[in-house]
Amino acid sequence: MKKGYFVTFEGCEGVGKSTQINFLKEYLEQTGQQAYFTREPGGVEISENIREIILNPKYTNMTDKTEMLLYASARAQLMAEDIIPKLDNGETVFCDRFIDSSYAYQGYARGLGIENVKRINEYVVEGYMPDLTIFIDLSPDKSFRRKNKNVILDDRLEQESLDFHMQVYNGYKEAERLSNGRVISVVPCEEKQDTFEKILKVLRDRDIIK
Ligand code: TMP
Repeated sequence: MKKGYFVTFEGCEGVGKSTQINFLKEYLEQTGQQAYFTREPGGVEISENIREIILNPKYTNMTDKTEMLLYASARAQLMAEDIIPKLDNGETVFCDRFIDSSYAYQGYARGLGIENVKRINEYVVEGYMPDLTIFIDLSPDKSFRRKNKNVILDDRLEQESLDFHMQVYNGYKEAERLSNGRVISVVPCEEKQDTFEKILKVLRDRDIIK
């Protein structure tokens, strides 16, 4: 029986998701609040190894279905080994990316269909859906401009075109629409700290943190 809160963070590449997660980690440490942080794909050894395969730029021939099933496999292992036992134990779990990444990237941008991705992932998550998903709502045409042009895009997904990443963004908006209020959009501010204040408010309003 799930007792702890499960919160996931989502967003397109380069929107400052990792920065915000690090702010949250620091804030919780400083205020003496316990929580567990993990990420997808990865988090445990088998899933980190699956991550290496998925993101390896040399696998240009990986099919969309293979990609979707590898993400689902990495998720199944992380759930069984780590997230489900922690939630059952009453811990609060924060995960950097989760099922909505599969909806947006594989279901929508790759064109496999959100419904198909949902069916497979329902089998994987066994009812342990996030209580809340914070979507950092910045479209790639804005975030890519913010990024240093000399930055080397070194994984297989990052190397996709701006068009692909715009489709990912549209996929997230569709996933948000279908989520019955689970997904909450947070539009980032100029100042990272102001964005963080918005995130804190969402989490406090739901009594997930103090
Ligand atoms: P990261 O770099 O944010 O850790 O994520 C790795 C990449 O994997 C990122 O491009 C998003 C992508 N991804 C999917 O396409 N589907 C998924 O289900 C997950 C979890 C991530």
